[in-house]
Amino acid sequence: MAALRILYASSEAHPIMKTGGLADVSGALPSAINQLGHDVRLIMPAYPNSLDHLSDVKEIVELDLMGAEKSLKIIQGQLKIANLTVYLIDYPEFFDRPGSPYINQNGEDWADNAQRFALFSRAVSVISLGLANLDWTPELVHCNDWQTGLIPALLSLQSERPATLFTVHNLAYQGLFDRATFEDLKLPNVFWSADGLEFFDKMSYLKSGLVYSDKLSTVSPTYKEQICTSEYGCGMEGILSKRIDDLHGILNGIDYSTWNPGSDPLISKLYSSSNVTLNKLDNKKELQRYFGLPLGGNTPLIGLVGRLVEQKGIDLLLAAMPELMKLNVQIVLLGSGNKEFETALKRQQKKHIKKIGLKLAYDERLAHLIEAGSDMFLMPSRFEPCGLNQMYSLRYGTIPIVRKTGGLADTVINVSKERLENETATGFVFKQLQTDSLLKTIKRALNLYTNRSEWRKLMRRAMLVDNSWEKRAQQYVDLYQLTIKKNSANSK
Ligand code: ADP
Ligand code: GLC
Repeated sequence: MAALRILYASSEAHPIMKTGGLADVSGALPSAINQLGHDVRLIMPAYPNSLDHLSDVKEIVELDLMGAEKSLKIIQGQLKIANLTVYLIDYPEFFDRPGSPYINQNGEDWADNAQRFALFSRAVSVISLGLANLDWTPELVHCNDWQTGLIPALLSLQSERPATLFTVHNLAYQGLFDRATFEDLKLPNVFWSADGLEFFDKMSYLKSGLVYSDKLSTVSPTYKEQICTSEYGCGMEGILSKRIDDLHGILNGIDYSTWNPGSDPLISKLYSSSNVTLNKLDNKKELQRYFGLPLGGNTPLIGLVGRLVEQKGIDLLLAAMPELMKLNVQIVLLGSGNKEFETALKRQQKKHIKKIGLKLAYDERLAHLIEAGSDMFLMPSRFEPCGLNQMYSLRYGTIPIVRKTGGLADTVINVSKERLENETATGFVFKQLQTDSLLKTIKRALNLYTNRSEWRKLMRRAMLVDNSWEKRAQQYVDLYQLTIKKNSANSK
């Protein structure tokens, strides 16, 4: 099979810029596909310090685009930690800002997000049409989430163009802007329609991606089904149901070169499934020391790492806290987000200083130590397109406790008597979004934890589950081919 030429567009990619799982996927999937013999290149904005992660850096082209007062530069480099060509769109007025790519220090969206990601999308579309004097053009542009949603729309205006695939990582973030912004961006009027990017009198970059791409995908089979319903569709269920034949659910993989307890430089003691019991305990003690919790192996320790937002079921955990704190358990939490959740968690931590460890920050090293040092990992998500932490947890022998939704339902096999006997269970799963169900499930886990030999078996089994990208990358290659075929049939 001939090597496919793919331009992978994302607003974040590990290790260059990360706020969540999108970065993990964008940092790992392109190189996993390249391993299969293809030519995937990543394109993203140039944020402060982006160049630190690249070698062979060169400025290749300057471009003058609508929406930019000055010329923007395209920088090309090679990602140092993987064999991957990266293009950076360098426009300091928009992207050279400290902190998050989406929000300012007060937690509010940058006021010019519409302009910033429209410019990024214009740059990507010009490059992919071969109009930027690069010595390379893609056959397909793979767009990810609302920040790239205008790319398929802009490309749809051309008769000769690369194919477009739009992947939904989270339907709840829709890139909504008002009509005045639409006018300000000078987008073609044909876009403003119910069959276009208009969404309840606003413009939605997400909807633009959903409407104008040749094919669509999302990050787990269960989320694919869910987003076609009004409960999970965030208002997009109509469009998605209409396009069901074009919509694919491909489960995310994880990058075992970054998330592997056998080689992880960010944890205190390395381990594998053969020495997990002893060596994991060292990491647990390090974690307890870090948070000033009483040291010891016998008290079960539950970890949680994530954005502190409603999606992650933090409210459910808070409601369960009084009852949870009556049990013999320690819990460590790392995250940042919603101020009310942060305050409520701080209050709980002050009240139960010997049982709760809390860090309200973004801390990569600590995230790894929590995976390595916890006995169990909690994800009581309200919805979860895929979720990566439950898969990291499995790899670290840290038994996930998850709600049965989205990718969590697809990756964790619930403990039952039968599934312990036939050795298929990998974690604890609950269905109802209720404090009671959460508590009952945590109690089930704590109960099994006292059965040391059964728990050891569970840890080893979890560690051997294969969630590698190698296994899943081929599914994207197949979808790329389908999409390219559809595009060339349409342009005939
Ligand atoms: P989402 O993308 O919805 O945030 P995922 O489970 O897909 O959820 O991915 C979250 C990623 O972000 C994981 O790699 C997780 O370790 C990381 N992460 C989230 N919050 C933090 C934090 N406060 N500190 C360090 N890493 C974090
Ligand atoms: C989103 C989702 C998360 C998913 C990640 C990567 O941020 O919230 O569930 O794992 O994207 O696809």
